[in-house]
Amino acid sequence: MTADKIKEIVAQMTLEEKAAMCSGADFWHTEAVERLGIPASMVSDGPHGLRKQDQEGDHLGVNESIKAVCFPAGCGTAASFNRELLNKMGEALGNECQAEGVSVILGPAVNIKRSPLCGRNFEYYSEDPLVASEMAGALIHGVQSKNVGTSIKHFLANNQETRRMSSDSRIDERTLHEIYLAAFEGAVKKEKPWTVMCSYNRINGIYAAENHKYLTETLRDQWGFDGYVMSDWGAVNNRVEDLKAGLDLEMPSSEGANDKLIVGAVESGEMSEEVLDTAVERILNIVFRYEENRDKSAVFDKDKDHELARKVAEETIVLLKNEGVLPLSDQDEIAFIGKYAMKPRYQGGGSSHINSHKITSALDAVKGMSNITFAMGFDDKEDKTDEKLLAEAVEAAKKAKVAVIFAGLPDAFESEGFDRQHMSMPNCQNELIEKVAAVQPNTIVVLHNGSPVEMPWVNQVKGIIEAYLGGQAVGGAVCDILFGKVNPSAKLPETFPLKLEDNPSYLSYIGEGDVVEYREGIFVGYRYYDKKKMDVLFPFGYGLSYTTFAYDNLKVDKECMKDTDTMTVSVDVTNTGKMAGKEVVQLYVADKESTVIRPVKELRDFAKVELAPGETKTVTFTLDKRAFAYYSVKIHDWHVETGEFDIMIGRSSRDIVLTKTVTVESTVKLPFVYTTDTTMGDVKKDPRAWEIVKGLLKHGMFGDADNSESEAASEAISDEMNAAMEEYLPLRGPVSFGGKITMADVQALVDQLNGLDD
Ligand code: BGC
Repeated sequence: MTADKIKEIVAQMTLEEKAAMCSGADFWHTEAVERLGIPASMVSDGPHGLRKQDQEGDHLGVNESIKAVCFPAGCGTAASFNRELLNKMGEALGNECQAEGVSVILGPAVNIKRSPLCGRNFEYYSEDPLVASEMAGALIHGVQSKNVGTSIKHFLANNQETRRMSSDSRIDERTLHEIYLAAFEGAVKKEKPWTVMCSYNRINGIYAAENHKYLTETLRDQWGFDGYVMSDWGAVNNRVEDLKAGLDLEMPSSEGANDKLIVGAVESGEMSEEVLDTAVERILNIVFRYEENRDKSAVFDKDKDHELARKVAEETIVLLKNEGVLPLSDQDEIAFIGKYAMKPRYQGGGSSHINSHKITSALDAVKGMSNITFAMGFDDKEDKTDEKLLAEAVEAAKKAKVAVIFAGLPDAFESEGFDRQHMSMPNCQNELIEKVAAVQPNTIVVLHNGSPVEMPWVNQVKGIIEAYLGGQAVGGAVCDILFGKVNPSAKLPETFPLKLEDNPSYLSYIGEGDVVEYREGIFVGYRYYDKKKMDVLFPFGYGLSYTTFAYDNLKVDKECMKDTDTMTVSVDVTNTGKMAGKEVVQLYVADKESTVIRPVKELRDFAKVELAPGETKTVTFTLDKRAFAYYSVKIHDWHVETGEFDIMIGRSSRDIVLTKTVTVESTVKLPFVYTTDTTMGDVKKDPRAWEIVKGLLKHGMFGDADNSESEAASEAISDEMNAAMEEYLPLRGPVSFGGKITMADVQALVDQLNGLDD
């Protein structure tokens, strides 16, 4: 429907109808206005499957929803580093929504994994904003290609569940832009999600729902977002202020109470009716976009989507360790051990919880293979070793050639609404792994969890597979990897630290009361571990394959570019092993010298390539200013400092295989204002300025050369020391050090310096 037509409809609506349109009619629907032909529009969770509730609605996954297909959660899909795959998954979700009459699916969820403890990490993608935003973008693209909307969430800085409805994320401007906003930015700009969901928390004191700066200035004015912003369920606390800030739709509903406040605010002149009209126009635009593009022929083919869920899962499973045990031979005597072989943990708790139409466990997947035995090993209802189950598992392991333990985090450890208390797996599972490994040298652990765990047994087992929360088809996918039907190709989208205390947010995570200071700043995840040169359990970007890849021929189309230009980087990747496989080629950029504090390197692009044995492909990347920039708080914009940068190609963040140095020239000069506090060192950076100032120091910083005190000082202080101290001497310094000038003289110099042309 055209913008004019929508305006016409809005013009016919009463004030009350318009106010009502700005909140849900019920838990999942927008309001209908029959007399004007406005239909109710349904939204549903999200993000990795359809949680459509036909009966009574709730936002925590408590009541029944329709049978649907649970795809791997964000933690896993990010590990695929495969945009095409996420696009396909998005297409399937979009089609399911069309078939079920859902206009917007509530996802993707892109919040940065600041700490391994966040209860919703399983839904989120990465500790790296580029990965989060690229994977989200691909999913959005797929869903919206079916004329169904997405709701990228939770905007903004919602990185913990503790006190999520009242906590205040205190984050400095640069960190917000480089890390937390950046997770949304690329996806919003490139893929134009139909809607955005604002989070519950505050950002630097202001609730996300009433944050004009982010909902309007950033999202709409700078990023060009043109859909509607909806609140997270219950995130509205001041309806009129929220509306003014840019929060269009309140969900679920205040049962009319807030509608009255809106009407009152317009009537009293506190808020202009135009603000309300704009919000209604935005909502109707999406309502009709969906309505007018309904695909009545869409069918929710659950079995077909289950197969896709399996394909997706195959690419989300990360091979972390393999000391010659994998892939398994299907002829070997194998003991499958652990409850999750029979009942996989494949999704997390809360609003994303899918009512799966079927579940394939690893045991289901190997049905009919008489060489595989099973022992439960543990029960995850409580963290207590069941001696009988443990003994049976050890016995089974002893008799077999290989033991595969299906372990991980129980449901109660990972859910929306609360955070994890620690980074350990249940003790009973750790004990099981250690006892089995003690009797069976060929022990492999398959992990089902949505966020890093500590692995005290890492050196006692020969193989480790991170299956993440792999969706309802995970069992089949894990077995395909175990038996080598599929070559593992996923990489960790997050660092696994050795222990929780190593995590950069450790000292300030969950905060004090409602105040959460993001004290680690931009040093989130590998940005921190690299800078501190710390050992980690498994680094960001890491993951093994059953084949090997060689990298060669790193080329750039220019060795020097202006920051307004782009640079093409290419590299050859060859499959040097015997099995076809996929490799995630990672491109990092490092600023070799910088006046601001920067990470050692940052991921700036990635690509996944499929290669037959012996095959070579050239992978090409295009880098622009952003790949070299940091966010400057001086100009409130991205800025590149002229100089050399290393372009690094890596198999992981800790395995850089090729490097090329290039130069980037800035076309932007940062404004510089001289004051009496400007140091001599900073003045020297402009030779013209130094010409003006250097006379101030002709007697050295300790005053006149004839002065005897200064002679004594010069014995104690070498020329180098004097020069070093001068470097940080403010322009006003000589006034107090006997330079025989006054503050007025210095001020006159400062004025002269500020008068220099750029
Ligand atoms: C969650 C959202 C979800 C909404 C609706 C909220 O509790 O934070 O992610 O989309 O409920 O279920």
